[in-house]
Amino acid sequence: MIGLGSDHNGFPLKQELLSFLEERGEEVRDFGTSSEAPVDYPDIAASLAEAIRDGLIERGVLVCGTGLGMAIAANKIPGVYAAPVTNVYTARKARESNNAQVITLGAQLVDVPLAFAIVEAWLQAEFQGGRSSRKVAKIRCLEARYSGSAVTAGLMGGRPC
Ligand code: RB5
Repeated sequence: MIGLGSDHNGFPLKQELLSFLEERGEEVRDFGTSSEAPVDYPDIAASLAEAIRDGLIERGVLVCGTGLGMAIAANKIPGVYAAPVTNVYTARKARESNNAQVITLGAQLVDVPLAFAIVEAWLQAEFQGGRSSRKVAKIRCLEARYSGSAVTAGLMGGRPC
């Protein structure tokens, strides 16, 4: 299941992505917004990111004007890794190297065909593991260190975070 969310600036592009993903055969959950009336992007980012944290959806795409606010907000939810992407290369690497479950798009930066290409590339990419695993584990260690979490066992292959 893929989640989609946007603020008012991202709403038209989010609607295009909804049709694109459904036509691709994906199961999609729409986290809003549902019009171009102003909403605060952290509210939408939090709803989608919390659904990832809770295991209700596996991946998500968030759209605002720049993609930046959505990424900053989604990354505050523990266990959620959101990457702002602007082209196909960064979309692919967000998954292959960074294991990001969420990408964020800026509707003021990408047009509809580019957004479709970005999402397609990201959906087809898989985390490559290998040397990237250690780096992603270190990101989880940072999160644990600053959230006061004691759940660090196993992150670094038995070594302390
Ligand atoms: C509007 O709230 C604007 O700040 C938003 O769409 C986004 O660009 C934030 O990063």
